[in-house]
Amino acid sequence: MDIREIDPCDEALLRRFWEIGKAADEVDRPWSTYWPWPSAQAALTGPNESRKAVLLAAFEAGAMLGIAEISLPLMDNTFAGYVELFVAPDRVRHGVGSALLDVTRQVLAAHDRRLMMAEVSTPVDGPRSPGMWFAERHGLKAALTNEHRVLDLLATEDRWPALAAEVAPHHADYRFVTWRDVVPEELLDGYCALQHAFNEEAPAGDLDVEAEHWDEARVRGKEERFRRAGRHETCTVAVAPDGTVAGLTEVMVSTHSSEHGMQGGTLVLRGHRGHRLGLALKLANQRAVRDRFPECAAIHTWNADVNAAMNVINNQLGFETVELLVEMQGEVRT
Ligand SMILES: CC(C)(COP(=O)(O)OP(=O)(O)OC[C@H]1O[C@@H](n2cnc3c(N)ncnc32)[C@H](O)[C@@H]1OP(=O)(O)O)[C@@H](O)C(=O)NCCC(=O)NCCS
Repeated sequence: MDIREIDPCDEALLRRFWEIGKAADEVDRPWSTYWPWPSAQAALTGPNESRKAVLLAAFEAGAMLGIAEISLPLMDNTFAGYVELFVAPDRVRHGVGSALLDVTRQVLAAHDRRLMMAEVSTPVDGPRSPGMWFAERHGLKAALTNEHRVLDLLATEDRWPALAAEVAPHHADYRFVTWRDVVPEELLDGYCALQHAFNEEAPAGDLDVEAEHWDEARVRGKEERFRRAGRHETCTVAVAPDGTVAGLTEVMVSTHSSEHGMQGGTLVLRGHRGHRLGLALKLANQRAVRDRFPECAAIHTWNADVNAAMNVINNQLGFETVELLVEMQGEVRT
């Protein structure tokens, strides 16, 4: 077996790389949200100032059998590297995944990363997924378990007006601002402060993460990447009477798979909790998503099981748990 880095600008190779990821991600998982080909191609070939990507592929007799996408944060968390590793479904249990992981460790060590992180899906009940067996076999440990939950927007939107009316008196002096894709200049500093606070204020279990660094260049760079990839972000913030951006929530919808949206972060700063802002933010943002993408019928979210407040909100909205997403981490040590 030959394992080597591939050039994302080689379209035929990148297409095969993506096909293996998609096929492996969808095995026994009707809720897979693997990224559409145009988004993957745009994201993996364009510039990214906050992360470096290394794409590895395993070949035998010229055929690609498995892939690893290694993502190296450049602006913060530079001690860590994230790996997504997939083996073609008809080639599993032949050591391809293990061989890819060995080379992944070498790549991480060469970039001075001491921690390897990987997200692994597994059923809520029933047998554990191959990914869980594999990750534990290779010394990774579960650091945070998330529920992957899905909201049927069409079946639940008639609840929204009553919920919004119920929570409104708790935050009468806050104002809400919703935007599409581009963070308004006057809210940029507050938006960066919230993104920075995220890793410190959201429950992270045993995950070894530090605050992310956000500034205007990073925000505008991300907006440009999303634009090229056909990803559209709808974001709502709550602004306190003194002008502080106190909370935010964001949903991403891809033009290449606009029947569903992906919930990004939701955060209310500690000093502003207790005003029912979390639910109000999500209600306003979901309404904005429905108006913008009438065909968007579902929202996927991933919430830490230890995040009680978020889980209460999502229960009220009607999210259903479909599987677990376990964030695994382990020492790189080659
Ligand atoms: C997880 C995955 C990458 C494994 O690839 P693979 O090439 O089959 O892995 P290997 O053959 O190197 O397996 C190594 C060891 O992992 C464990 N393992 C892998 N699949 C397993 C399964 N279905 N049941 C139990 N143990 C399993 C075993 O200990 C295995 O060693 P063994 O075959 O000698 O018993 C592959 O199933 C896949 O693509 N899954 C979907 C994506 C995913 O979950 N990725 C997360 C990886 S962190």
